[in-house]
Amino acid sequence: MTVVDLNQQRIDAWNSDNLPIYEPGLDEVVKACRGKNLFFSTDCEAAIRAAQCIFVSVNTPTKKTGLGKGKAADLTYWESAARNIAAWSTSDKIIVEKSTVPVRTAEAIEKVLLRNCPAPGVHFDILSNPEFLAEGTAIDDLTTPDRVLIGGKIENDRGTAACAALVDVYANWVPRERILTANLWSAELSKLTANAMLAQRISSINAISALCECTGADVSQVSFAIGKDSRIGPKFLNASVGFGGSCFQKDILNLAYICECHGLQEVADYWYSVVGMNDYQKTRFVRRVVSAMFNTIRNKKIAMLGFAFKKDTGDTRETPAIDVAAGMIEDGAKIALYDPQVPEEQVRMDMGEEAMKSITCYKNPTDALKDAHAVTIMTEWDEFKTYDWKEIYEVMHKPAFVFDGRNILDHAHLSEIGFIVYALGKPIDPFLKSAEGA
Ligand code: UDX
Repeated sequence: MTVVDLNQQRIDAWNSDNLPIYEPGLDEVVKACRGKNLFFSTDCEAAIRAAQCIFVSVNTPTKKTGLGKGKAADLTYWESAARNIAAWSTSDKIIVEKSTVPVRTAEAIEKVLLRNCPAPGVHFDILSNPEFLAEGTAIDDLTTPDRVLIGGKIENDRGTAACAALVDVYANWVPRERILTANLWSAELSKLTANAMLAQRISSINAISALCECTGADVSQVSFAIGKDSRIGPKFLNASVGFGGSCFQKDILNLAYICECHGLQEVADYWYSVVGMNDYQKTRFVRRVVSAMFNTIRNKKIAMLGFAFKKDTGDTRETPAIDVAAGMIEDGAKIALYDPQVPEEQVRMDMGEEAMKSITCYKNPTDALKDAHAVTIMTEWDEFKTYDWKEIYEVMHKPAFVFDGRNILDHAHLSEIGFIVYALGKPIDPFLKSAEGA
């Protein structure tokens, strides 16, 4: 397996002791295999020539300009990868779409490959093999996946043979009954649909969290109770300040855009509303912070714990912390940020220079929390649960507030210490109720 990238710096990092991404268990795998059956290189041409099978895992972000901007997937990188593959291939190859791409991309890619390959008689078989692993649990998800999905032209022999070749690769560690095959378009659409439905579950429970706060129900109890229904199931029902990550929003917008292109406006609107609910949840959180703190957070130090879009990753793409931080800065807050994995440079890139005038990044939680008026939990890092919250209370301004955007802390214990606690979808603290009316 040779991993190639045009970016020399990135490949150097993969070949060093400091891998460019944080993912539990990844270091061990890379260290065990690197130099033996795993290689990292910038020599794309040699790797393409030598390969029998090429996994294309390039970025497919949402288009920023032009037709479909803000919704459609930008396939620039995919197309240029395909052009390189075509230009450099001298033997038959199986091309595997790993990137999440809009339905029917395989067809377009096939055209690019066929029309641009100068070598005579070279044949390309296109497969779609959508990636379902989640960050933070990537290694487990890879070693014991719920399913592996392989899409191909199963209506003809060549396509079936290509599918079988990839099935054989996975069958080395995945039970055969978990390896599914489908036609190309079904496989591509399955990825978008899976992400849209997972995100929809979160938006649904987040919608209910708002109702719980008004009515005195507890969203965790509601999640638990409905999750016991085997038709619903217990996963992905944690109310949160909002979902983030590189996939959910992007894939929903992409799916909705495809629906729009087919004249299915009602279907598109249905999916857009999942994103709308996510935006509402982030806005609602900021409003709660401001109203609780006597309608002003101007010049107040607010400790933000966590910036990554979920725990066990340093990834900040579409993290709800970006919008929450921006919302609080708009109200004049001074943010003291601590995340165990996100470096200051990343925060700067996400927030921009202007916002950074109101954000200080700390390398330890103690300094971030000292003299703060409030704590906001943005990511469910386990270490936040282990802090000595009594000690933290002592060094904060009073009344000291905790706004738990992930419902991970022991709220009864915090209230006992003296904190005013806001937890998503939980009965509202009487102190906050009066602030609400103010
Ligand atoms: C997702 C899909 O799960 C994965 O199958 C696909 O391959 C890529 O996209 P990922 O983005 O890595 O994976 O993270 P995921 O665990 O799905 O979480 C996405 C967001 O939803 C995070 O911000 C997470 O905190 C949030 N979330 C998740 C909730 O708010 N509540 C939940 O109950 C679950």
